[in-house]
Amino acid sequence: MNNFIFENQTKVYFGKGGVKEYLGCVLRHYGDTVMLAYGGGSIMRNGVYDEVMGILSAEGKTVVEFSGIMPNPTYAKVQEGAKLARENHVDLILAVGGGSVSDCCKIVSAQAKLREDIWEMEMTKHTYPNRFIPLGTIVTAFGTGSEMNAGAVITHEGKKIKAGIAGAQADFAFLDPAYSMSVPFPQVISGAFDTLSHAMETYFGKPDENNLSDDINEAVMRGVIRNIRVLLREPDSYEARSELAWASAMAENGVLKIGKITDFQCHQIEHQLGAYTDCNHGKGLAVIHPALYRHICPYGAKRFARFAQRVWGIAPKNTDAETALAGVEALAAFIEEIGLPTSLAELGIPGDTDLRAVADSSNITAGCCKKLTHEEIYEILLECR
Ligand code: NZQ
Ligand code: ZN
Repeated sequence: MNNFIFENQTKVYFGKGGVKEYLGCVLRHYGDTVMLAYGGGSIMRNGVYDEVMGILSAEGKTVVEFSGIMPNPTYAKVQEGAKLARENHVDLILAVGGGSVSDCCKIVSAQAKLREDIWEMEMTKHTYPNRFIPLGTIVTAFGTGSEMNAGAVITHEGKKIKAGIAGAQADFAFLDPAYSMSVPFPQVISGAFDTLSHAMETYFGKPDENNLSDDINEAVMRGVIRNIRVLLREPDSYEARSELAWASAMAENGVLKIGKITDFQCHQIEHQLGAYTDCNHGKGLAVIHPALYRHICPYGAKRFARFAQRVWGIAPKNTDAETALAGVEALAAFIEEIGLPTSLAELGIPGDTDLRAVADSSNITAGCCKKLTHEEIYEILLECR
């Protein structure tokens, strides 16, 4: 086991009815002005807005609304939120939504306390914020696991870069799986696949043998696969949705990453595809994963063979290479089975998208079993067409 330091500061309130039972109490620890941040309006339609507003007003809070946070949140939206938070001397940001709302608010929380531009600060000076407006989240769509970490994925439209930047980590997070009942079903599956991707991208990092984190990870991956299949049969299963909700947090709260250098090459490529096309995150990952893994699995055959056996239940074949490939094909078949797109065309990516630019702007990760070149990423993207 490699050395590690582990802490996760987010207090999690998991389960049905948690907001009603505990939010009022939690709010008493913060000042009077609360910024209620949300997306395009789903919380108006499913009753979450009224419920949260009722609690805020019962606690006597002054509410500043920050709405319209879009999927794949932009840097311009972050700046809008930071200005609003600063001008209103916000004491707490309450992010109510999916990963996009949570991510946007993590950076709003940091930018509001900074004089300098956070993007330039992190990307060019490599210094990171240490003062934040306190943040809490109420998750309404699961998959990213954003609620239990300090990373945020923001699209800088001017620079055509979608990148992970460091911001605030939530003090508290409400995870009520019942809130996910109104999420459009394709988004539920896309989110769950994002969780599987996070687990895989951690599993295929280094070191790749005899590691407790990987043993736990295999259980998470099997659980995600099993519960997606339950949802295909019973879309409203609270049990399956709650299992997926916790798996989502588990995949990104740091536990599976303990002692590991993660891979995340697929995410790096998907983020740039997102920067150029604004595609859906989980669906983009679904298209890229099989092509990427067919390409790299010969370089990590032993690990991919273990994945095939322990996650997909495939009997060992004559060689690790054969078993490894069977695992990748099982993943590809699963993606098709659960109705996610299997090509860029199916994902709705225009044929004239500059895939060369997507490839050339993708980060190359150190944890991947094969250090890719931009040319190889371009070939992988062509195979995805
Ligand atoms: O905006 P509203 O109206 O709320 O609608 C949203 C949005 O259209 C809708 N939705 C959310 N909860 C709902 C609901 N609709 C009905 N009922 C509800 N209860 O779902 C749509 C998608 O929401 P979004 O937040 O964009 O989805 P997701 O949670 O998948 O987040 C995606 C973003 O997170 C980033 C992605 O790159 C992408 O920008 N990621 C963040 C990570 C992190 N911070 O750790 C890790 C991930 O790898 C990922 O990159
Ligand atoms: Zn992801």
